[in-house]
Amino acid sequence: MSLASFLQWLYNTPFSITMRESLWAEPIVETIHVLTLTLFLGFAVLLDMRLLGVAMKRRRMSEVLGQLNPWLFGGFAVMIVTGVLLFCADPIAFYSTTVFKVKMIMLVLAGLNVLIFNATVGRKIAEWDLSPTTPGGAKLAAVVSLVLWVFIISAGRWIAYALPPP
Ligand code: HEM
Repeated sequence: MSLASFLQWLYNTPFSITMRESLWAEPIVETIHVLTLTLFLGFAVLLDMRLLGVAMKRRRMSEVLGQLNPWLFGGFAVMIVTGVLLFCADPIAFYSTTVFKVKMIMLVLAGLNVLIFNATVGRKIAEWDLSPTTPGGAKLAAVVSLVLWVFIISAGRWIAYALPPP
């Protein structure tokens, strides 16, 4: 099955039709998408500020990570689920926009940033756990994260203006 025929199949599913035609489905899911984003972004900025050595300098890095990670992972999961549901409303139109594809690529990059952090400086956290000055790798991960989230959110907002006319 090609991608085009998959998108066409998805478009014709009863779920996609309901998402598209119901008065409430899309606004409710989009509101959850945005509210979860505010929760996620707030905690992501806190974590990135600690990684930069700007905020919560006297708190152990491992403690900050331990407290924020459940919120970050929970928020991220809800954003992915609600994002996929929104996409189902009009898969062909959303996929036709460049900005949607760019947003997806940036989401993958944000995930890679976390994986690279965990595999490098994150593995040696014990060495700088209480240090207010964090290693360069931690600062780099924080800057990459902040930049990517700003662009991901901007891209998400932009989708509405890039859609083909109905
Ligand atoms: C996980 C991080 C994500 C963030 C931070 C994010 C952010 C946003 C933002 C800010 C909006 C604009 C909301 C509005 O204008 O009311 C949006 C809309 C949207 N997002 Fe996401 N999103 C994420 C994940 C996803 C995923 C994984 C998908 C799909 C696979 C997705 C699909 C959509 C769609 C289809 C819209 C609706 C565009 C519209 O109708 O205007 N999002 N997102």
